Amino acid sequence: MDIILLGPPGAGKGTQSQRLVEHHGMRQLSTGDMLRAAVKAETPVGIKAKAVMEKGELVSDEIVSQLIDAELTAMGRETGAIFDGYPRTAAQAEMLDEILASHGRKLDHVIELEVDEDALVQRITGRFTCAACGEGYHDSFKTPEVEGVCDKCGSTEFKRRPDDNEETVRHRMEVYRSETAPILPGYEARGIVSRVDGMASIEEVTHALDAILD
Ligand code: AP5
Ligand code: MG
Repeated sequence: MDIILLGPPGAGKGTQSQRLVEHHGMRQLSTGDMLRAAVKAETPVGIKAKAVMEKGELVSDEIVSQLIDAELTAMGRETGAIFDGYPRTAAQAEMLDEILASHGRKLDHVIELEVDEDALVQRITGRFTCAACGEGYHDSFKTPEVEGVCDKCGSTEFKRRPDDNEETVRHRMEVYRSETAPILPGYEARGIVSRVDGMASIEEVTHALDAILD
């Protein structure tokens, strides 16, 4: 099963993807994570993407689509893909259809996480992740059980994203409204869109997603 998780910055795409990976054995394909890895490794893609991401603008459609194509080539067809943060423009939505067809795959669900944008700013500015395993946390909503120690791998190093300040978050939301939200009607016409209340608790959102996938 291949699905898109759609929603503005902070909607919970990454949080829920990690849970779907655990519950359903799917694979998370987050273009944001791939780009951050490229920035860290200072690859040619990373060098190009760094400033664009720090401003909350979009990296080119070709670059992100190539990243997705390469990941799908590397993974088996029997593993379901969760597209997290991709596609983000009408051109990327078209490219994804072509890429999936070329791999003999098709989209089963597009799930929109419906959220209140003002609450998202608080979610994002409180977010941090384990520097070793990538487990996600939040200053108010999900703190490690032992302060300063990752629940999952025991690391004591955590990090925050450079684009997680209020000004950039607000800009990322504008970009979502103008570039990404307009791709939904095309998927609606195909009858594959489901909506989930992204303001519910992390657990409740997971239950709603499980119900759609089961
Ligand atoms: P990307 O990394 O995709 O960021 P984003 O879309 O802005 O989304 P976020 O990762 O900020 O939010 P999320 O929905 O994953 O929320 P999370 O689960 O972490 O993209 C970053 C940049 O890369 C872009 O700006 C662009 O420059 C570039 N880029 C990436 N893809 C691209 C593409 N396709 N094309 C072009 N450019 C691209 O949750 C947030 C916090 O809230 C967490 O702390 C979490 O614990 C908490 N939380 C989650 N759910 C709940 C809940 N239900 N209740 C309470 N707290 C919750
Ligand atoms: Mg994310």
